[in-house]
Amino acid sequence: MSDPPPASSAADERNFDAELEYTYGFFPFLKADSLMLNALLAGVRPPGAQGSITYCELGCGQGLTLSILAAGDESGRYVGIDYNPAQITNASALAREAGLDNVEFIEESFANLQARDLPDFDIVVLHGIYSWISPKLRHDIVEFLNRKLKPAGLCFVSYNCAIGRASDLAFRQLLQAALRREGTPSPGAIAKSLAVADAFAEKGARYFAQNTATLDRLKDARTRDPVYVFHEYFNPVWTPFFFHEVAAEMAEAQLTYVGSTSVAWNYPDLAVPGNLRAIFESFPAPADQELLKGIWANQPFRRDLYVKGARSVMSPDEQIASLQALHFGLSRPRADCPLKVNVPAGVANLPDKPFIPLLDALEKSPVSGAELRRHLPPGAVGDQDFVRALIILLGAEYLELRTAPGQLATVRRRFDRVNATIARATDRSQDIFVVATPKNRLAIRMNPMSYYLYRAHQTGPDNRVGKAYRLLEESGRSVQYKGRPAPDRKTAEAVLAEQESVFVSNTLPRL
Ligand SMILES: C[S@@+](CC[C@H](N)C(=O)[O-])C[C@H]1O[C@@H](n2cnc3c(N)ncnc32)[C@H](O)[C@@H]1O
Repeated sequence: MSDPPPASSAADERNFDAELEYTYGFFPFLKADSLMLNALLAGVRPPGAQGSITYCELGCGQGLTLSILAAGDESGRYVGIDYNPAQITNASALAREAGLDNVEFIEESFANLQARDLPDFDIVVLHGIYSWISPKLRHDIVEFLNRKLKPAGLCFVSYNCAIGRASDLAFRQLLQAALRREGTPSPGAIAKSLAVADAFAEKGARYFAQNTATLDRLKDARTRDPVYVFHEYFNPVWTPFFFHEVAAEMAEAQLTYVGSTSVAWNYPDLAVPGNLRAIFESFPAPADQELLKGIWANQPFRRDLYVKGARSVMSPDEQIASLQALHFGLSRPRADCPLKVNVPAGVANLPDKPFIPLLDALEKSPVSGAELRRHLPPGAVGDQDFVRALIILLGAEYLELRTAPGQLATVRRRFDRVNATIARATDRSQDIFVVATPKNRLAIRMNPMSYYLYRAHQTGPDNRVGKAYRLLEESGRSVQYKGRPAPDRKTAEAVLAEQESVFVSNTLPRL
């Protein structure tokens, strides 16, 4: 690497998250085959052609996403790295109890990665890390990518984008000053700090009045778990980036930008409105185009995919053959897939042909890419339209990858063990409330009531409400009514019954 490493400081090694455990999350866009599909659609040959991949998550938190991804990919090898000892203990215990032998969790700081004997990786992901660590640690990570990401390997990196988030700098200063006034950080002190910001906003502080996106984030923070709020706003290091700044750091590790994993973002006609397109297209530099799209959308967050080395471009035939070999399905009920779709540019109207036949075919999922391809005319133009249709359906968030029928039984067996392990951990008071779903090798995050309705449903569809009430009670939890525990069983069951209709219409079809 050309530049000398930035000097180290005390903040490098001890962010707050070394002491405070992170929440359990599941992030579907980190799935290896989704990242590979992103590359494929951009015409970039994805890694792991031999069928088995090595995958590393830097800053894996509680390791839930990584364990579920590993459970869905028996032949892959997964490694999670995080310096929080409690999180690594939890993650390792969950993987062990679920019988997953293809995932390993390592307690280590990004500062010491070179000391570890790790394999070379096809995919390295960093979600919720890059904006929250010092320049020195970013340099260590770039150095790791330089050494350990294989040629043609993929790197996913998410970060806060300066365009939509720079106004939060003062918000964070205010919260942090308010927390210093409280003394020790605790959920109560975090709530009091937010209350200070609230008071200023309510009394008409011009900062909040003129920075409405930050005001919205204040309102959102008031509804969140204090641990999440702490990680988001109180971390001593926080750098919102412009695209070109991260791209320049990634270039140090020979990484080339492939595109955003928010698929619609990558296509000017979906990302920029028609009346700005001519100005947009007069900027030849891709980094400037990313800036313009960001300004249009007031972009707060980016989820970017990079490839190691030059983009190894596939031939159209190879691209089509790879897409035809995949299996797809709808990510939401067919009724929630209108032809009028929201994309960053605004609203797009999809033509009936080929979208109605494609959506109808997808409803009977899993459906192979080869079968979907048959809904478009034969020949090269049909091939292009097929790729384009997949891009639009992914951009509209209607489409997802599905487990190939031949793999479903294995995935189901492994996911059953993961779900049983999560259920035991949840009953032991860990708030995981996540159910792994074999048909797409992903997971659904639920609220506690929905989660216990799911648990009740597992024992049979009868009297779900009564059973969920009992399970909640046995786990030491209560049904919440107007922000506090329901005053009696009748109220609790009425709340659960209301939740049950949402569970039946929204959650059950996705399981
Ligand atoms: C905001 S959390 C994100 C966790 C996970 N990727 C997710 O999105 O849920 C940041 C994670 O990075 C870890 N982390 C922060 N600094 C680190 C360092 N220097 N070395 C290793 N892990 C670190 C924290 O322990 C925490 O789990």
